Amino acid sequence: MKSYIICIQTLCGRISPVGFGSKNDRRHLERWRDKTDATLLGAGSLRAGDPEFRDSSGKIPTRRIRALITMSEHLPLEKSIFKRGPRPFVFCSHNNANALKRNLSESAKIFPVAFSPQGGLDLFEVLDILEQHGVKKLLIEGGGRLNYFALKQEVVHELVITVAPKLLISNTGIPLVNGTEDLGDPFLDLELVTCKTDLSTGEIYLRYKIKKENKSG
Ligand SMILES: NC(=O)c1ccc[n+]([C@@H]2O[C@H](COP(=O)([O-])OP(=O)(O)OC[C@H]3O[C@@H](n4cnc5c(N)ncnc54)[C@H](OP(=O)(O)O)[C@@H]3O)[C@@H](O)[C@H]2O)c1
Repeated sequence: MKSYIICIQTLCGRISPVGFGSKNDRRHLERWRDKTDATLLGAGSLRAGDPEFRDSSGKIPTRRIRALITMSEHLPLEKSIFKRGPRPFVFCSHNNANALKRNLSESAKIFPVAFSPQGGLDLFEVLDILEQHGVKKLLIEGGGRLNYFALKQEVVHELVITVAPKLLISNTGIPLVNGTEDLGDPFLDLELVTCKTDLSTGEIYLRYKIKKENKSG
């Protein structure tokens, strides 16, 4: 399976507060949904917004998988992902699975997975389960914490990043990669695949792959 992180960030590398992307960037995201089989989203992003993961036709695809990941039981049941479209997959710890099954049995499919030694739930196991459900291309739609775990656990092939012409003065925005330990030594090296500019919005569409030399083991 191939997995892609997709995000829009400010020039200073912040991904929140959200809503700073253009309509063109929204279409770019929807086109990426069109060409991937599933989306994975961190519970923090679900709590912060109300995403439905519509495609470029404005519809919620019936066959595309919408997946959430959480280590807690704090999934907001009032969000539309639990009310509209196919039931989302929820990846959680074995400890929380029963409680989530009780609360979400009608509105989600619960998959308990083990913890990773690198922190968070084991994303290789998550990807395996998704693969068993036919996923060949996975879009990791953030937020910063999930991006960190995914890069730390080395399950990411490419980063699809829009740089928006914005700067934040405060230090409140969440970074693209929200973690505590270095991803490399100390850098994680990336290789530019494509770079497209949109002069009408000032946004830059970047696609990087993770350099193979980074891979451990
Ligand atoms: N600009 C963009 O393109 C973009 C895209 C997405 C999100 N965002 C923004 O980013 C912000 C959220 O980012 P964030 O870093 O706070 O949160 P996040 O990554 O969306 O969610 C973090 C939470 O997700 C769960 N999680 C993530 N990885 C996990 C793993 N490997 N194993 C188990 N649980 C895992 C945990 O849930 P529990 O807390 O439930 O244990 C964790 O606390 C929001 O403001 C959102 O709007 C921006």
